[in-house]
Amino acid sequence: MKISEFYPREVFANRTVFVTGGGSGINLGIAKSYAAVGAKVAICGRTEEKLDHAKSELEALGAKTHAVVADVRDYDALQHACDQIQVSLGPITDLVCGAAGNFLCSANEMSANAFRTVIDIDLMGTFNATRAAFEQLKETKGCVLMVSAGQAYMPYTHQAHAGAAKAGIENLAKNLALEWGPLGIRINTVVPGPIEGTEGVKRLADEKQKHMMLQSIPLRRLGLPEEIGQVAVFLSSPMAAYITGSQIVCDGGMNLSGSALFNMGVHQAQAARAAHATKSSNDQEE
Ligand code: HXC
Repeated sequence: MKISEFYPREVFANRTVFVTGGGSGINLGIAKSYAAVGAKVAICGRTEEKLDHAKSELEALGAKTHAVVADVRDYDALQHACDQIQVSLGPITDLVCGAAGNFLCSANEMSANAFRTVIDIDLMGTFNATRAAFEQLKETKGCVLMVSAGQAYMPYTHQAHAGAAKAGIENLAKNLALEWGPLGIRINTVVPGPIEGTEGVKRLADEKQKHMMLQSIPLRRLGLPEEIGQVAVFLSSPMAAYITGSQIVCDGGMNLSGSALFNMGVHQAQAARAAHATKSSNDQEE
């Protein structure tokens, strides 16, 4: 069943949704879900080409769109983006803070700059977007969704940077829900599991690891981008009018069983790479 069959079109007809990092992956899935229920959709990202492609996909769903190149680490660029969106699509009613960066790296091998980069994109980027959109959200009594991760509450090996950033996002969401609730602004987080075809899954798991990961997911499959979009649309809808400061986990149950299988997969892949490197250097010496 399509999401558009669940929500009468008038519910989202006058809404302007801004999705950071909306050019691809989960965030594009979220943007498409809003487009499918009739919202106007703005996206930002670092790569113009990706944004152009995403914009056409959103327009094919009938949405009025606005795409703007902006790095969420750059507050002024985001403020400018929010101002432009207000002019072209009307004031922002829904903000999705989705832009994120990640890679697998053990803490002892990671440079301070690498750690900071992920904190800057994920945590600072989320604050920057909410702060830049604040005046518009206040006017519209809007709704914010921050994209979190299981790493926020469960340690995953080689994910110290992402875990710290996402834990910060969870706390930020609750603080903003407390401070901005009296203004009528709601703030929630979503915890996606591994989502099919995304950069995140590509970066965190090779084919063998993916197979292992499936064993730790009670529903035995990866998620789909639109399944995170369905959570986002629900949280924006009047059906969620009394929900703020909450976290919705949409991961097929993956985090119920902890991170042991993921950790084992990372360590096995590391050991295999080390064995391969030793063999190659021995072969060269012979
Ligand atoms: C170790 C690395 C690294 C790696 C980069 N760095 N990749 N260190 N292992 N694989 C280091 C660099 O050496 C540098 O440190 C610092 O990080 C900054 O790197 P840059 O390439 O200069 O940064 P930048 O161009 O801004 O790119 C940001 C990035 C990149 C995060 C590093 O990977 C990126 O653009 N990713 C965007 C897409 C992405 O990651 N999508 C997946 C999101 S998945 P030094 O010291 O050398 O200067 C996701 C799922 C969440 O978020 C689930 C878990 C929370």
